[in-house]
Amino acid sequence: MATNIVFHEGSVTGSQRAASLKQKGVTIWLTGLSASGKSTIACALEQHLLHLQKFCYRLDGDNVRFGLNKDLGFDEKSRNENIRRIGEVSKLFADACCIVVTAFISPYRSDRALARDLHEKAGLSFVEVFVDAPLEVVERRDPKGLYKKARAGEIKDFTGISAPYEPPEKPEVHIRTDQCDVTDAVRIITEYLTEHGFI
Ligand code: PPS
Repeated sequence: MATNIVFHEGSVTGSQRAASLKQKGVTIWLTGLSASGKSTIACALEQHLLHLQKFCYRLDGDNVRFGLNKDLGFDEKSRNENIRRIGEVSKLFADACCIVVTAFISPYRSDRALARDLHEKAGLSFVEVFVDAPLEVVERRDPKGLYKKARAGEIKDFTGISAPYEPPEKPEVHIRTDQCDVTDAVRIITEYLTEHGFI
């Protein structure tokens, strides 16, 4: 913990920045089991927003673990720290008026609540999207063969098998990926963003 530090306020306010850039920042936080469709939806949504000429950026679990979070594993403490850092990073992007799309399992409610809190305390919007599919469905998909390895005991602390996933209780958006395709998912999220004045 650093001591003797003093927060330095800039002279540009959030609303001045939003007015100048003609865009409000928001974090769209996708959460769900591995293979639920988070990354696929995040990519398609980013593409769609870019097409609408919106300033947007995607942060993805696997990708961030190649760099910023390369020191973290999958035990509970590491996941807490993973989500804490991403909460901070996405808050900075949202403060810069970006539409941030995050795709992390983020299995613990308290971690997601912390990420939301970080945003809301800074006057920034946070939209939780539950990317939902039953375990038997995601296990059947198993695009990376991870569920098979987890069942065989080759991966420990695997979400849904040997580590918990706490589903959101009141997400702003709930998408059942076993019942709709990626185009529907992007439409549902985009409708939410439009109705709430983000795009
Ligand atoms: S978390 O729980 O939010 O910290 O996880 P995240 O940073 O999103 O990383 C999830 C991706 O890591 C791969 N992977 C695992 N997932 C869950 N449990 C274990 N033990 C594990 N080990 C590796 C996996 O590819 C996850 O990607 P997705 O896209 O979710 O399938």
